[in-house]
Amino acid sequence: MSRAIVVSGIRSTGNLHLGNYFGAIQNYVVMQEEQECYFFVADYHSLTTHPDPKSLKANVFRVVAENIAAGLDPDKVALYAQSDIPEIPELYLMLNMMAYKGELEKVPTFKDKVRQQPDNVNAGLLTYPVLMAADILIHKAVKVPVGKDQEQHLEMARNFAQRFNTRYGELFPEPHVYRSNHETLKILSLDGNGKMSKSENEAATIYLCDDDATIRKKIMKAKTDAGPQEPNSVMPDYIQNLFVLLNATATPEIAAHYLAAYNNCNIRYGDLKKQLAEDLANFIRPIREQATELQQDEQSIRRILKTGAEKARDSASKTIVEARKLIGINYY
Ligand code: TYM
Repeated sequence: MSRAIVVSGIRSTGNLHLGNYFGAIQNYVVMQEEQECYFFVADYHSLTTHPDPKSLKANVFRVVAENIAAGLDPDKVALYAQSDIPEIPELYLMLNMMAYKGELEKVPTFKDKVRQQPDNVNAGLLTYPVLMAADILIHKAVKVPVGKDQEQHLEMARNFAQRFNTRYGELFPEPHVYRSNHETLKILSLDGNGKMSKSENEAATIYLCDDDATIRKKIMKAKTDAGPQEPNSVMPDYIQNLFVLLNATATPEIAAHYLAAYNNCNIRYGDLKKQLAEDLANFIRPIREQATELQQDEQSIRRILKTGAEKARDSASKTIVEARKLIGINYY
């Protein structure tokens, strides 16, 4: 049976957190066993916010180290930096000719950025989904493990693929969001305001590099309320979020105990938080420790990135030759 092609990326814009883990990396680790996987650090994408050149490399290396510590095996996948694959910006340029200003301006993530950084609405921000489509299509991927927040970008990648195929001839299969657990997972910020994110609201975000005491402190401050007033009440999303994390890290018995307590209206959120903090601390500790160790071994990370880039270029260069030919760039 041929292996499905899988692509996904993570921006190097800060420390990885539980949203990145449960929304993306957890799926990578399952998929690496049976599929042809290309996972990369989206360093070009991070340039939209003009990061300090002095910290770029450390940010990229940290994402690599945290992915490996979380279970990614660089021998089983191609793990690389986006900027090491020149075929990606070449395909990005080609796809940009088929991406229209109107549709790009309507993308919700673009509108959010315009609101957040009105002084830096650059063309890279506008064409962010086109670069993302190039990342995916360059390997002709069909499965893309990402969190819920990226679904609209995937829809755009499908549109660009179709447009290219219609205009120049069949080249790209349609990429679809894929999750091994079939859940549409979104981890919320612990204060209940939007999704957990690398750069916003650090006190309400649990990072894979947080130590035990920090995890406890953040969990104890998580938003709760007076508790359900009627049996089997619908959970508000911030309580549901705590249960998602508990289900993912505690034993099934413990998770079932707290769910029953919620449904019977005798839940004590203080107890739930203490339990969750311990389970999360146990879960994150080995990842944090291994990531810290790996980050100190720059030589290994460089070697991993180099090997990953060779694997990725092997696939990318074949696609770009075909794309050029179909477009008519075929002079010699
Ligand atoms: P990024 O770096 O914001 O996030 C990396 C991955 O983590 C997921 N994620 C979440 N999942 C659930 N809950 C959350 N709170 C949460 N926060 C983040 C994201 O869905 C993502 O899967 N544009 C992408 C990077 C990218 C990419 C690509 C992804 C560039 N090119 C090609 C797939 C394919 C991004 O900014 O992810």
